[in-house]
Amino acid sequence: MLTLPDEKFKMIFDMINKINDLLAEINQLKATGKDELEALRIKYLSKKGEIALLMNDFRSVAAEQKRETGQKLNELKEKAQAKINELKELLENQRSSGDFVDLTRTAYPYSVGTRHPLSIVGKEICDIFGRLGFNIAEGPEIEDDWHVFSSLNFAPDHPARDMQDTFFVAYGTDILLRTHTSSVQTRVMEKTQPPIRIICPGRVYRNEAISYRAHCFFHQVEGLYIGKNVSFADLKQALLFFAKEMFGAGTKIRLRPSFFPFTEPSAEMDISCNLCGGKGCPFCKHTGWVEILGCGMVDPNVLDNCGIDSQIYSGYAFGMGIERIANLKYQVKDLRLFSENDVRFLRQFESAT
Ligand code: DAH
Repeated sequence: MLTLPDEKFKMIFDMINKINDLLAEINQLKATGKDELEALRIKYLSKKGEIALLMNDFRSVAAEQKRETGQKLNELKEKAQAKINELKELLENQRSSGDFVDLTRTAYPYSVGTRHPLSIVGKEICDIFGRLGFNIAEGPEIEDDWHVFSSLNFAPDHPARDMQDTFFVAYGTDILLRTHTSSVQTRVMEKTQPPIRIICPGRVYRNEAISYRAHCFFHQVEGLYIGKNVSFADLKQALLFFAKEMFGAGTKIRLRPSFFPFTEPSAEMDISCNLCGGKGCPFCKHTGWVEILGCGMVDPNVLDNCGIDSQIYSGYAFGMGIERIANLKYQVKDLRLFSENDVRFLRQFESAT
Protein backbone atom coordinates (compact mmCIF):
# COMPACT_ATOMS: atom_id res chain seq x y z
CA MET A 1 0.00 0.00 0.00
CA LEU A 2 1.25 3.37 -0.98
CA THR A 3 1.62 5.68 1.93
CA LEU A 4 2.22 9.35 1.55
CA PRO A 5 3.85 11.59 4.01
CA ASP A 6 1.07 13.38 5.90
CA GLU A 7 2.01 16.76 4.64
CA LYS A 8 1.93 15.80 0.97
CA PHE A 9 -1.36 14.02 1.43
CA LYS A 10 -2.88 17.03 3.07
CA MET A 11 -1.66 19.31 0.28
CA ILE A 12 -3.23 17.21 -2.45
CA PHE A 13 -6.39 16.85 -0.45
CA ASP A 14 -6.58 20.62 -0.03
CA MET A 15 -5.86 21.14 -3.71
CA ILE A 16 -8.60 18.83 -4.89
CA ASN A 17 -11.01 20.47 -2.44
CA LYS A 18 -10.03 23.90 -3.69
CA ILE A 19 -10.46 22.82 -7.32
CA ASN A 20 -13.93 21.47 -6.55
CA ASP A 21 -14.89 24.66 -4.71
CA LEU A 22 -13.67 26.78 -7.60
CA LEU A 23 -15.54 24.63 -10.11
CA ALA A 24 -18.79 25.14 -8.18
CA GLU A 25 -18.07 28.83 -7.81
CA ILE A 26 -17.30 29.32 -11.49
CA ASN A 27 -20.46 27.53 -12.45
CA GLN A 28 -22.48 30.18 -10.64
CA LEU A 29 -20.67 33.22 -12.01
CA LYS A 30 -22.66 36.21 -13.28
CA ALA A 31 -21.58 39.57 -14.68
CA THR A 32 -23.78 42.63 -15.28
CA GLY A 33 -21.16 44.67 -17.08
CA LYS A 34 -17.87 44.65 -18.88
CA ASP A 35 -15.87 45.80 -15.84
CA GLU A 36 -17.34 43.12 -13.65
CA LEU A 37 -16.49 40.48 -16.21
CA GLU A 38 -12.90 41.70 -16.45
CA ALA A 39 -12.60 41.53 -12.65
CA LEU A 40 -13.72 37.89 -12.78
CA ARG A 41 -11.23 37.09 -15.51
CA ILE A 42 -8.43 38.60 -13.43
CA LYS A 43 -9.58 36.75 -10.30
CA TYR A 44 -9.53 33.31 -11.95
CA LEU A 45 -7.41 33.40 -15.10
CA SER A 46 -4.70 36.05 -14.77
CA LYS A 47 -1.05 35.31 -13.99
CA LYS A 48 -1.67 35.84 -10.29
CA GLY A 49 -5.21 34.47 -10.34
CA GLU A 50 -6.64 31.53 -8.39
CA ILE A 51 -5.83 28.99 -11.09
CA ALA A 52 -2.25 30.22 -11.54
CA LEU A 53 -1.73 29.81 -7.78
CA LEU A 54 -2.94 26.24 -7.98
CA MET A 55 -0.57 25.63 -10.90
CA ASN A 56 2.29 26.75 -8.67
CA ASP A 57 1.22 24.30 -5.98
CA PHE A 58 0.92 21.61 -8.61
CA ARG A 59 4.69 21.64 -9.09
CA SER A 60 5.19 20.12 -5.67
CA VAL A 61 2.68 17.33 -6.16
CA ALA A 62 4.22 13.87 -6.04
CA ALA A 63 4.85 12.35 -9.44
CA GLU A 64 2.36 9.50 -8.94
CA GLN A 65 -0.43 12.01 -8.11
CA LYS A 66 0.36 14.37 -10.93
CA ARG A 67 -1.83 12.75 -13.58
CA GLU A 68 -5.07 12.84 -11.61
CA THR A 69 -4.52 16.31 -10.12
CA GLY A 70 -3.30 17.67 -13.43
CA GLN A 71 -6.45 16.50 -15.19
CA LYS A 72 -8.59 18.15 -12.54
CA LEU A 73 -6.62 21.39 -12.86
CA ASN A 74 -6.97 21.40 -16.64
CA GLU A 75 -10.67 20.80 -16.33
CA LEU A 76 -10.90 23.78 -13.99
CA LYS A 77 -8.94 26.01 -16.33
CA GLU A 78 -11.07 25.07 -19.34
CA LYS A 79 -14.34 25.52 -17.44
CA ALA A 80 -13.22 28.95 -16.17
CA GLN A 81 -12.24 30.06 -19.66
CA ALA A 82 -15.50 28.72 -21.12
CA LYS A 83 -17.54 30.48 -18.44
CA ILE A 84 -15.82 33.81 -19.03
CA ASN A 85 -16.44 33.46 -22.81
CA GLU A 86 -20.05 32.57 -22.21
CA LEU A 87 -20.61 35.62 -19.98
CA LYS A 88 -18.90 37.85 -22.53
CA GLU A 89 -21.17 36.65 -25.29
CA LEU A 90 -24.22 37.07 -23.10
CA LEU A 91 -23.32 40.68 -22.35
CA GLU A 92 -22.79 41.47 -26.01
CA ASN A 93 -26.12 39.94 -26.97
CA GLN A 94 -27.94 41.84 -24.26
CA ARG A 95 -26.43 45.04 -25.53
CA SER A 96 -27.48 44.50 -29.12
CA SER A 97 -30.94 43.20 -28.24
CA GLY A 98 -31.61 46.37 -26.28
CA ASP A 99 -32.29 44.59 -22.96
CA PHE A 100 -29.16 46.04 -21.53
CA VAL A 101 -29.60 49.34 -19.76
CA ASP A 102 -26.44 51.34 -19.74
CA LEU A 103 -27.17 54.16 -17.34
CA THR A 104 -23.98 55.96 -18.25
CA ARG A 105 -24.87 56.32 -21.91
CA THR A 106 -25.86 59.78 -23.26
CA ALA A 107 -29.63 60.11 -23.42
CA TYR A 108 -31.38 59.76 -26.78
CA PRO A 109 -32.43 63.17 -28.05
CA TYR A 110 -36.22 63.61 -28.05
CA SER A 111 -37.61 63.95 -31.52
CA VAL A 112 -39.49 67.23 -31.33
CA GLY A 113 -42.41 67.76 -33.68
CA THR A 114 -42.69 70.78 -35.92
CA ARG A 115 -45.42 73.31 -36.40
CA HIS A 116 -47.51 72.82 -39.52
CA PRO A 117 -46.72 75.44 -42.18
CA LEU A 118 -50.39 76.49 -42.24
CA SER A 119 -50.30 77.02 -38.47
CA ILE A 120 -47.13 79.07 -38.83
CA VAL A 121 -48.59 81.29 -41.55
CA GLY A 122 -52.03 81.52 -39.90
CA LYS A 123 -50.41 82.64 -36.67
CA GLU A 124 -48.24 85.16 -38.49
CA ILE A 125 -51.29 86.71 -40.18
CA CYS A 126 -53.13 86.93 -36.84
CA ASP A 127 -50.04 88.39 -35.13
CA ILE A 128 -49.70 91.14 -37.74
CA PHE A 129 -53.32 92.19 -37.37
CA GLY A 130 -52.97 91.74 -33.62
CA ARG A 131 -50.47 94.59 -33.72
CA LEU A 132 -53.24 96.74 -35.25
CA GLY A 133 -55.57 95.91 -32.38
CA PHE A 134 -57.50 93.00 -33.93
CA ASN A 135 -58.64 90.20 -31.60
CA ILE A 136 -59.02 86.57 -32.61
CA ALA A 137 -62.58 85.25 -32.96
CA GLU A 138 -63.62 81.73 -33.85
CA GLY A 139 -66.84 80.08 -34.93
CA PRO A 140 -68.20 76.60 -35.70
CA GLU A 141 -67.29 74.66 -38.85
CA ILE A 142 -70.76 73.11 -38.99
CA GLU A 143 -72.96 76.09 -39.71
CA ASP A 144 -76.41 77.02 -40.95
CA ASP A 145 -77.50 78.81 -44.08
CA TRP A 146 -78.18 82.05 -42.17
CA HIS A 147 -74.63 82.56 -40.89
CA VAL A 148 -72.88 81.45 -44.06
CA PHE A 149 -75.17 82.90 -46.73
CA SER A 150 -78.40 84.70 -45.88
CA SER A 151 -77.08 87.13 -43.27
CA LEU A 152 -74.23 87.96 -45.63
CA ASN A 153 -76.58 89.14 -48.34
CA PHE A 154 -76.35 86.13 -50.65
CA ALA A 155 -79.37 86.13 -52.98
CA PRO A 156 -81.66 83.10 -52.54
CA ASP A 157 -80.57 81.73 -55.91
CA HIS A 158 -76.86 82.39 -55.46
CA PRO A 159 -74.86 79.48 -56.97
CA ALA A 160 -72.79 79.03 -53.76
CA ARG A 161 -75.92 77.60 -52.13
CA ASP A 162 -75.89 74.81 -54.68
CA MET A 163 -74.93 71.35 -53.47
CA GLN A 164 -72.27 71.34 -56.17
CA ASP A 165 -70.36 73.94 -54.19
CA THR A 166 -71.43 73.39 -50.61
CA PHE A 167 -71.41 70.29 -48.43
CA PHE A 168 -74.75 69.90 -46.67
CA VAL A 169 -74.58 67.89 -43.47
CA ALA A 170 -78.06 66.44 -43.76
CA TYR A 171 -80.06 66.34 -46.98
CA GLY A 172 -83.05 68.67 -46.95
CA THR A 173 -81.80 70.77 -44.00
CA ASP A 174 -79.94 74.07 -44.00
CA ILE A 175 -77.08 72.67 -41.92
CA LEU A 176 -73.85 72.78 -43.87
CA LEU A 177 -70.06 72.94 -43.61
CA ARG A 178 -69.06 76.58 -43.77
CA THR A 179 -67.65 77.58 -47.15
CA HIS A 180 -65.88 80.63 -45.76
CA THR A 181 -64.93 82.15 -42.41
CA SER A 182 -67.11 85.20 -43.15
CA SER A 183 -69.74 83.34 -41.09
CA VAL A 184 -67.77 84.30 -37.95
CA GLN A 185 -68.47 87.99 -38.80
CA THR A 186 -72.18 87.40 -38.41
CA ARG A 187 -71.76 85.40 -35.20
CA VAL A 188 -69.73 88.19 -33.58
CA MET A 189 -71.85 91.08 -34.89
CA GLU A 190 -75.04 89.41 -33.63
CA LYS A 191 -73.62 89.40 -30.12
CA THR A 192 -71.42 92.51 -29.99
CA GLN A 193 -71.99 96.20 -30.59
CA PRO A 194 -69.18 98.18 -32.28
CA PRO A 195 -66.36 98.91 -32.12
CA ILE A 196 -65.53 95.44 -33.43
CA ARG A 197 -62.06 94.55 -34.61
CA ILE A 198 -61.66 90.81 -35.18
CA ILE A 199 -59.51 88.39 -37.12
CA CYS A 200 -61.02 84.93 -37.66
CA PRO A 201 -58.80 82.02 -38.69
CA GLY A 202 -60.33 78.65 -39.48
CA ARG A 203 -61.01 75.72 -41.77
CA VAL A 204 -63.57 75.91 -44.55
CA TYR A 205 -65.07 73.31 -46.90
CA ARG A 206 -66.06 73.33 -50.54
CA ASN A 207 -67.28 70.58 -52.80
CA GLU A 208 -64.27 70.62 -55.14
CA ALA A 209 -62.42 67.82 -56.89
CA ILE A 210 -59.03 67.43 -55.19
CA SER A 211 -56.07 68.42 -57.34
CA TYR A 212 -52.73 70.16 -56.93
CA ARG A 213 -54.52 73.51 -56.82
CA ALA A 214 -57.89 72.76 -55.17
CA HIS A 215 -59.00 70.82 -52.12
CA CYS A 216 -62.32 70.06 -50.49
CA PHE A 217 -61.09 71.82 -47.37
CA PHE A 218 -58.70 74.68 -46.84
CA HIS A 219 -58.08 77.53 -44.42
CA GLN A 220 -59.00 81.18 -44.35
CA VAL A 221 -58.51 84.23 -42.23
CA GLU A 222 -61.34 86.73 -42.16
CA GLY A 223 -60.93 90.26 -40.88
CA LEU A 224 -63.64 92.68 -39.79
CA TYR A 225 -63.55 96.23 -38.46
CA ILE A 226 -66.77 98.04 -37.55
CA GLY A 227 -66.87 101.49 -35.99
CA LYS A 228 -67.88 105.06 -36.64
CA ASN A 229 -66.55 106.67 -39.83
CA VAL A 230 -64.56 103.62 -40.93
CA SER A 231 -63.54 104.30 -44.53
CA PHE A 232 -62.05 102.54 -47.51
CA ALA A 233 -58.81 104.46 -46.82
CA ASP A 234 -58.60 102.72 -43.41
CA LEU A 235 -59.00 99.38 -45.15
CA LYS A 236 -56.27 100.17 -47.64
CA GLN A 237 -53.89 101.32 -44.93
CA ALA A 238 -54.43 98.19 -42.83
CA LEU A 239 -53.88 95.94 -45.85
CA LEU A 240 -50.75 97.80 -46.94
CA PHE A 241 -49.35 97.38 -43.43
CA PHE A 242 -50.15 93.67 -43.57
CA ALA A 243 -48.55 93.18 -47.00
CA LYS A 244 -45.32 94.90 -45.94
CA GLU A 245 -45.11 92.99 -42.66
CA MET A 246 -45.82 89.67 -44.32
CA PHE A 247 -43.84 89.94 -47.55
CA GLY A 248 -41.25 92.64 -46.88
CA ALA A 249 -41.05 96.42 -46.68
CA GLY A 250 -40.67 96.84 -50.46
CA THR A 251 -44.03 95.15 -51.18
CA LYS A 252 -46.59 97.16 -53.14
CA ILE A 253 -50.34 96.58 -53.25
CA ARG A 254 -53.05 97.29 -55.78
CA LEU A 255 -56.82 97.01 -55.47
CA ARG A 256 -59.00 95.91 -58.36
CA PRO A 257 -62.79 96.36 -58.32
CA SER A 258 -64.64 93.09 -57.68
CA PHE A 259 -67.92 91.77 -56.33
CA PHE A 260 -68.89 90.00 -53.10
CA PRO A 261 -72.47 89.89 -51.85
CA PHE A 262 -71.44 91.08 -48.37
CA THR A 263 -69.29 94.09 -49.31
CA GLU A 264 -69.98 97.22 -51.31
CA PRO A 265 -67.76 98.39 -52.87
CA SER A 266 -65.68 95.22 -53.15
CA ALA A 267 -62.13 94.73 -54.29
CA GLU A 268 -59.47 92.12 -54.82
CA MET A 269 -56.00 92.90 -53.64
CA ASP A 270 -52.78 92.01 -55.44
CA ILE A 271 -49.27 92.36 -54.10
CA SER A 272 -46.19 92.97 -56.22
CA CYS A 273 -44.83 89.50 -57.04
CA ASN A 274 -42.56 88.53 -54.18
CA LEU A 275 -40.49 86.23 -56.43
CA CYS A 276 -39.48 88.68 -59.17
CA GLY A 277 -40.10 91.89 -57.22
CA GLY A 278 -42.72 93.00 -59.76
CA LYS A 279 -40.57 92.63 -62.88
CA GLY A 280 -42.59 89.70 -64.24
CA CYS A 281 -41.88 85.96 -64.04
CA PRO A 282 -43.69 82.66 -64.74
CA PHE A 283 -45.03 82.65 -61.15
CA CYS A 284 -46.95 85.92 -61.61
CA LYS A 285 -47.68 85.03 -65.25
CA HIS A 286 -45.42 87.94 -66.24
CA THR A 287 -47.81 90.51 -64.79
CA GLY A 288 -45.65 91.45 -61.80
CA TRP A 289 -48.69 91.04 -59.50
CA VAL A 290 -50.23 88.16 -57.53
CA GLU A 291 -53.71 88.13 -56.02
CA ILE A 292 -53.87 87.52 -52.29
CA LEU A 293 -57.25 88.49 -50.88
CA GLY A 294 -60.77 89.83 -51.27
CA CYS A 295 -62.06 92.84 -49.34
CA GLY A 296 -64.51 95.70 -49.24
CA MET A 297 -66.78 97.91 -47.17
CA VAL A 298 -69.32 95.86 -45.24
CA ASP A 299 -72.65 96.07 -47.08
CA PRO A 300 -75.18 98.04 -44.93
CA ASN A 301 -77.63 95.13 -45.40
CA VAL A 302 -75.19 92.86 -43.54
CA LEU A 303 -74.90 95.30 -40.62
CA ASP A 304 -78.69 95.60 -40.38
CA ASN A 305 -79.09 91.80 -40.65
CA CYS A 306 -76.85 91.43 -37.61
CA GLY A 307 -78.50 94.13 -35.48
CA ILE A 308 -75.95 96.90 -36.08
CA ASP A 309 -77.34 100.26 -37.16
CA SER A 310 -75.90 100.98 -40.61
CA GLN A 311 -76.88 104.64 -40.25
CA ILE A 312 -74.38 105.01 -37.40
CA TYR A 313 -71.70 102.48 -38.17
CA SER A 314 -69.64 101.45 -41.14
CA GLY A 315 -66.91 98.89 -41.52
CA TYR A 316 -64.55 97.00 -43.73
CA ALA A 317 -63.91 93.29 -44.15
CA PHE A 318 -61.35 91.16 -45.89
CA GLY A 319 -60.72 87.47 -46.35
CA MET A 320 -57.73 85.48 -47.49
CA GLY A 321 -56.70 81.85 -47.95
CA ILE A 322 -53.91 80.71 -45.64
CA GLU A 323 -52.75 78.12 -48.21
CA ARG A 324 -52.41 80.90 -50.78
CA ILE A 325 -50.27 83.05 -48.47
CA ALA A 326 -48.20 79.98 -47.49
CA ASN A 327 -47.67 79.18 -51.18
CA LEU A 328 -46.40 82.68 -51.82
CA LYS A 329 -44.05 82.44 -48.86
CA TYR A 330 -42.77 78.92 -49.40
CA GLN A 331 -43.55 78.20 -53.08
CA VAL A 332 -45.38 74.97 -52.33
CA LYS A 333 -46.45 73.75 -55.76
CA ASP A 334 -49.04 71.17 -54.69
CA LEU A 335 -51.83 72.05 -52.25
CA ARG A 336 -52.29 68.41 -51.30
CA LEU A 337 -48.94 68.41 -49.48
CA PHE A 338 -50.53 70.50 -46.73
CA SER A 339 -52.90 67.72 -45.72
CA GLU A 340 -50.88 64.58 -46.44
CA ASN A 341 -48.83 64.68 -43.22
CA ASP A 342 -45.65 63.60 -44.95
CA VAL A 343 -42.92 64.32 -42.40
CA ARG A 344 -40.37 64.89 -45.18
CA PHE A 345 -42.48 67.90 -46.20
CA LEU A 346 -43.35 69.04 -42.67
CA ARG A 347 -39.76 68.84 -41.32
CA GLN A 348 -38.71 71.55 -43.76
CA PHE A 349 -40.49 74.07 -41.58
CA GLU A 350 -38.56 73.02 -38.48
CA SER A 351 -36.73 76.27 -37.96
CA ALA A 352 -39.76 78.51 -38.28
CA THR A 353 -41.28 79.71 -35.02
N1 DAH B 1 -65.44 85.06 -48.11
C1 DAH B 1 -64.71 85.30 -49.32
C2 DAH B 1 -64.32 83.97 -49.94
O1 DAH B 1 -64.44 82.97 -49.31
C3 DAH B 1 -63.45 86.07 -49.01
C4 DAH B 1 -63.77 87.48 -48.67
C5 DAH B 1 -63.84 88.42 -49.66
C6 DAH B 1 -64.04 87.84 -47.37
C7 DAH B 1 -64.14 89.74 -49.39
C8 DAH B 1 -64.33 89.17 -47.07
C9 DAH B 1 -64.38 90.09 -48.10
O2 DAH B 1 -64.60 89.59 -45.86
O3 DAH B 1 -64.67 91.40 -47.82
O4 DAH B 1 -63.91 83.96 -51.05
